[in-house]
Amino acid sequence: MKGFVDEMRAVAMKLHTKDQAREGEKESVDPPIAAWNPSVDGYLKFLVDSKVVFDTLESIVTTALHPSYGEFQKTGLERSEELSKDLEWFKEEGYSIPEPSKPGIVYSSYLQQLAENDPPAFICHFYNIYFAHSAGGRIIGRKVAEKILNKKQLEFYKWEGSLSQLLQSVRIKLNHVSSGWSREEKNHCLEETEKSFVYSEDIIRLILT
Ligand code: HEM
Repeated sequence: MKGFVDEMRAVAMKLHTKDQAREGEKESVDPPIAAWNPSVDGYLKFLVDSKVVFDTLESIVTTALHPSYGEFQKTGLERSEELSKDLEWFKEEGYSIPEPSKPGIVYSSYLQQLAENDPPAFICHFYNIYFAHSAGGRIIGRKVAEKILNKKQLEFYKWEGSLSQLLQSVRIKLNHVSSGWSREEKNHCLEETEKSFVYSEDIIRLILT
């Protein structure tokens, strides 16, 4: 039987543009990744703002702001420490690390607010952020590394053990947590997906600044 995470995935896939993913249904507005002309400065802004978002998610889950978040501790998908190592590497290479900018700060405070008041909506963002990073995020990482980092693979794109197994065990947890929700709460969670795209795309766009 299909679980709720399949519904979450179906909604997310439709929100991709046709050039991002096979199941995407939207027309693209931004140029495809293959045509990007990224700069290290823009990419650093993206990494710094991504870290703000992952720091927020990971502290919400660690403190189990809502009891159901406790299930998502130590999933192996956490990215905060990996991003710290990557930023340290850039520093050693002589780059200066920018302060967090608006897209990351705005998304982080939105997540904090949802986590306190609206668990189904928060879980929607939790799912989309980690799973997007494991799919499209890696495609972005590979392309950017090819173009401006001499193919250096950052820690942000490395997971301990099998990524597909880590994702699979988080899918099981998502199905478990959402099994306690009413149909209304489930629909509310699914409806939040679009916002997750809007906020994340604002952070991704920093790469091109
Ligand atoms: C999955 C590409 C942005 C959420 C995927 C997949 C691709 C992809 C190729 C895998 C499809 C498959 O299983 O065959 C991209 C690209 C993006 C992007 C190129 C931007 C340049 C986003 C954003 C979000 C998102 C902004 C949400 C915040 C997801 C989710 C999945 C997915 C939830 C499902 C992962 C899974 O089932 O394991 N994406 N994506 N993606 N993406 Fe994206």
